[in-house]
Parts: sequence; structure tokens; C-alpha cells
Amino acid sequence: MRKPLVDISIFKQRRDTLSSHFGDGALVLFSSPEYIRNNDVHHPYRQDSNFFYMTGFEEPGAIFIFRPGKSPETTLFVRPKDQLMETWEGFRFGVQMAGEAFGIDACYEVDQFEDEAPKLLQEVETVYHNLFVNSNIDQQMQSVLKTTRSLQGRSGRGLLSVKDPYSIIGEARLVKSDFEIETMKKACEISADGHIAMMRAMKPGINERAIQGVFIGEIMSQGSAREGYGTIVASGSSATTLHYVFNDQPCRSGDLVLIDAGAEYNYYSGDITRTFPVNGRFSDLQKRVYNKVLKAQKKLISMIKPGVTQAAVHDSSVQMLTEIMIEEGLLQGTVQENINNLNFKKYYPHGIGHWLGMDVHDSGLYTIDGKPRPFEAGMCLTIEPGLYVPADDMSAPQELRGLGIRIEDNILITPMGHENLTKKAPKEVEEIESLMAQL
Ligand code: GLY
Ligand code: MN
Ligand code: MN
Repeated sequence: MRKPLVDISIFKQRRDTLSSHFGDGALVLFSSPEYIRNNDVHHPYRQDSNFFYMTGFEEPGAIFIFRPGKSPETTLFVRPKDQLMETWEGFRFGVQMAGEAFGIDACYEVDQFEDEAPKLLQEVETVYHNLFVNSNIDQQMQSVLKTTRSLQGRSGRGLLSVKDPYSIIGEARLVKSDFEIETMKKACEISADGHIAMMRAMKPGINERAIQGVFIGEIMSQGSAREGYGTIVASGSSATTLHYVFNDQPCRSGDLVLIDAGAEYNYYSGDITRTFPVNGRFSDLQKRVYNKVLKAQKKLISMIKPGVTQAAVHDSSVQMLTEIMIEEGLLQGTVQENINNLNFKKYYPHGIGHWLGMDVHDSGLYTIDGKPRPFEAGMCLTIEPGLYVPADDMSAPQELRGLGIRIEDNILITPMGHENLTKKAPKEVEEIESLMAQL
């Protein structure tokens, strides 16, 4: 028998904390669908973040209903035990074992969902469910909701309404508990070790794919189940593609390589970017521009503390990067003019960062009542300024064309300020050069 990944009391605590937010409602979550790659081969499976957050259950083909204050409060529909399928695909908890292993009140086979769910939902006013993500799931929910409404009949209850649970679960996930912070720290530390391993392995001629393999090898050897997102190993002018996906070119001496890679550890992800020279030595020009971006990145991190907003940090990043663009001859005119007319976006087209957690671009609102929300202790975010000069930008100084630099760290907001969870990954020029010089 497999064991739950982490202590299941965490999931009960989360449900208890959130129960009052659902009022006289019920939450219905579906596990992530499986996606066929070809014939009988599936893409690697990863549980839906909200499903895992509320249950700890990692199997596909499962549905969870949470009815705070009612009995049963938690119901899990799971795939049945099946000796033949388990011979091919591995262990399933099944109805008997799932309840006890995950602390769930009632379990059924997933095929019973359409019969059993309406009986559970007829007692609630509101169903919290995320529609329009998957049409098969929508169809099942449509059938269940229709039956539920007919069961409610003349009960005197209003028409059952459906609401998105994002504002409840997404907001809860944004502010990390002590357990989540420890897990995030581990994910970030493993991610940093993966970057160190890639810096050590980097050499002229090596393929970007081989470097991605070094990252995967390092993080998996430390207990990471997978990358938190598709690793980007972008050498030369590919670094100007923000989410470069090919990772199939040889790395050339004299070029920089931009690597954006994060490990996922127990469902929490790191998200680090480092940019460094393929041959281990920055040229004078690379060092000059890199150090300007690094100085800006460090200043932006130093701003972070409770009460500050992401919008304010982003605005400062625009100011600093636009100054660099003008100094380097990429833009003409004043800083303010280039900000007002959005010219800076040609070389800095993205935001300063995003929430980080179970998903690399994690859940949680960025604005509340139309205003940027202030940071609170327990939130995690990335700070990732970048400067990208397209290779075919004839208006840019020739020596800068094809240069892409991004430096990204993962920051935890603490009661008094912040903690950089990814500081172990070298980013000072001297640190990088001395690490890469070691045999
Ligand atoms: N790794 C994706 C990002 O930095 O947003
Ligand atoms: Mn990021
Ligand atoms: Mn990233």
C-alpha cells in the first residue's frame, strides 16, 4: 500500500480553517483529468493543486465533496480496486482504504457520483465549483445539478446557485502556513542546487537539453517529483524568447545562457532564473549590462515588506530598467517619456513577478476592490526583472542585439520584511565565475 505524501492532519486543518467561508454551501472538486499522449500512453500525471490542497489524494479519476458542518462532511469518489489495472498501472486505494488513509467520512466508487452527489447537494444553498475548465466535467456537473434541483423540488430553498471557489481556496493558498513555508524552502533549496549543478556542467558545445537533464537529475535525486514548469535553457539570442521551449541548441562559447528552472517538492514549486556565460567568463559588455540588471533586481528585493504592493515594485522595476535602456542606447529621450509611451515594453515586456506556491503562477488576487493589494507575511512571490534585445532589432546598438538577461529569486514576505528563499543560487559575477572555474 502507498502512504499519503504528507501528514494528512494538514488537510483536515485546512478544511476546518476554510469551512466557515462556504456558509451553507458545498465544495465540489474534480481531480485533474488524465491526458492521452498516444494510444495507451498518458502524459505524466499530476494532481490538481486545489484537489491536493484540500485532500492530499493524488489519484486521477476522483471527485471530492466538502459540506462543512454536515454529515458526512467529506465525501470522496474514487476509482475502484482493480487487480488487472493495478497490475498494469500500480496501486489504487479504492473505496475501503481511501477513507481511512485520508481521513474522509464517506467514500464511493467514482461511477456512483451522479447517483450520490445530488443527495448530498440537495441540502445546500450554493455549490462551489470551477466550471468551464473541462467539458466532460461540466457535463457531469450539469447532470448532477439538474437532478439536485429536481430533488429540492418544493423544499422552499432558493434555486441552487453555483459559485467559483477561487476566492476562497485561491486566497487561502496565497498566505502560506508554517508547513507550507518549510515545504517552499525545500523546493527553493533543491531548485538552487539544480542551478548550481547546471552552472558546473555548462561548457561550450554542450546541448541545452543536456543541461536540462542535469537539472532534472539533481532535483530528482533530492526527492523532487518533477519540474514545477517546463525548464527554459535558452542560450544566445534564444534568451530573448521569454518562454523558450525548444532547449535543443548547442551552447556556444561567448554567449550567455538564460536558465529558468524550478523544482516541485511535495506540490510546491521554486522558480529561479539565472543568466551566465557559457564559457564561464563574462565579457566586459555582458558584465556591464548584467550588473545593471542585477543591481536593479537587488534594489527591488530590498523594497519587499508587508504593506508594499506588487504594483509599486513593478513600477520601480520599469523606472530602473528604462534608465538602463537609455544608458545603453536602446531608447532615446527621457525616462518619463519612455515610460509614458510604453516604449520600455519593447525590451521589458513582462511584469516584475507573480505569486508562487503550489502552482508556479500561483493562485491569489493581485488587486482587491480595484486596488493593488498590500503584501502580507506568509505570501511568496518572484522578483524577476529582465532585459531582452531582439536579435533583429536594427534600432539597437549592434553589440547588444540578441542579449537576454533575467534574474529571478523567490521571496517570502516575513512580519518584518522578507526572506530570499533562493539566495543559495549564485548571481554575483564573481560567485558565478569562481563556481564555473572549479573542476
Ligand atoms: N518560469 C516562469 C516564470 O518565471 O514566470
Ligand atoms: Mn517566475
Ligand atoms: Mn521563472
